[in-house]
Amino acid sequence: MMQEYKYEFQYQVYDDSAELTEQDAWLLNEARAVTEHAYAPYSNFNVGAVAILINGDIVVGTNQENASFPVGICAERVLLGTVATLHPDIAVESIAVSYKSDNVKSDHPISPCGMCRQSLLEYETRLKKPIRLILSGQEGKVYIIESASLLLPFAFNGNELK
Ligand code: THU
Repeated sequence: MMQEYKYEFQYQVYDDSAELTEQDAWLLNEARAVTEHAYAPYSNFNVGAVAILINGDIVVGTNQENASFPVGICAERVLLGTVATLHPDIAVESIAVSYKSDNVKSDHPISPCGMCRQSLLEYETRLKKPIRLILSGQEGKVYIIESASLLLPFAFNGNELK
């Protein structure tokens, strides 16, 4: 017998970063600022990501592009790779993501690409802790998502590989 299922998730929308907690507002500001360190001469779309770990440590990442386009890597995966290397056993509490571009207005949130969602999901599983996402442009609305894996229903999680 056919059965139907529904997937829904909740997220919070704030009109402005001024409404956030002090810690979230600080993280988002850092993500906005670190976009300066992106290397994005091809897309001109600078992305910054900042993680706070459960011990309070801060790690940053930016997108790093390449003349051979597929070689480029998103800010979120640069960040996760750095976190995993510097602090292999310390879970991530929250990640703020922002962007800046000369071509488009950065006045609304962006959300991680599919490949980064897959990476974020595995990092949650690996460290057994949901990763909160704080998403916003240089100004305007802020989305807060309690767990990155909510963005990837029906994910392939490697259980079948065992
Ligand atoms: N990008 C990120 O770094 N993170 C995202 O969440 C979306 C896209 C990068 C990849 C590429 O360097 C540029 O933004 C344009 O897609």
